[in-house]
Amino acid sequence: MSKHVVILGASQGIGAELVKYFSAQPDTIVTALSRNLMRMNLEFKQKNVNSYALDISKDVAIQIKAIQFVSPIDILINNAGFLIHKPFEMLTHEDFQLSYQTNVIGIMESTQALLPRFSTDAHIINISSMGGFQGSLKFAGLTAYSTSKAALCSFTELFAEEYKNTGLRMNCLCLGAVQTQMLSAAFPGYKAPTSAKQMAEFIANFALQAGKLMNGKIIAVSSSNP
Ligand SMILES: NC(=O)c1ccc[n+]([C@@H]2O[C@H](COP(=O)([O-])OP(=O)(O)OC[C@H]3O[C@@H](n4cnc5c(N)ncnc54)[C@H](OP(=O)(O)O)[C@@H]3O)[C@@H](O)[C@H]2O)c1
Repeated sequence: MSKHVVILGASQGIGAELVKYFSAQPDTIVTALSRNLMRMNLEFKQKNVNSYALDISKDVAIQIKAIQFVSPIDILINNAGFLIHKPFEMLTHEDFQLSYQTNVIGIMESTQALLPRFSTDAHIINISSMGGFQGSLKFAGLTAYSTSKAALCSFTELFAEEYKNTGLRMNCLCLGAVQTQMLSAAFPGYKAPTSAKQMAEFIANFALQAGKLMNGKIIAVSSSNP
């Protein structure tokens, strides 16, 4: 039977590499979601990829209702993210709101809206950051981003507890630096030790394997950050 993988935040960076990885696997159907539908349609020509516009910063449940999912979802990767790099005293209400809406509220709302669409043993992976991992080295200017990513870690533990008697599994990967547009915009000139393709391969293998063995786990995926 074919596997159905949904990537939220699929238009570029790690998400686009995840779409490429999964669509190259046999018997796999990929649903790619993000705001930039034109970019996804240009990028993903594979027959087993269906792309839809979804903006998790507003009316998530209404937008998801309009999407025709091909079959029950076996893997959902909540990869969408928004990073604002600004000194704490300059962060505005809108900066905090957009960070939390995109990085945690929108992820919780879309997961909630997708609940009836999951297969009985689906694996949901939240993509957080080392910045949101307790005890990690922190970076100035990332308060809105890293606190919202910490909340995403917490969501993972709470969801896993609440759904532990179902087949649903949720785990969270806290990524270290990966060379993408998000990183280049936040830290110009910095060279990450990991490419988006390398990280996507790791995430994809984790998504395929770890749901059988782990639930509610927060895992650091980093070679550059204590
Ligand atoms: N790169 C790193 O060093 C690093 C480190 C730690 C964690 N991460 C996390 O890894 C994930 C992927 O990051 P990346 O580096 O690949 O970033 P990226 O290149 O900026 O990609 C972010 C993705 O999220 C989507 N997105 C943003 N806002 C959205 C919204 N409102 N609704 C739907 N989709 C939205 C974007 O698509 P549209 O613009 O088309 O909507 C894009 O596909 C993020 O969650 C990020 O926080 C990255």
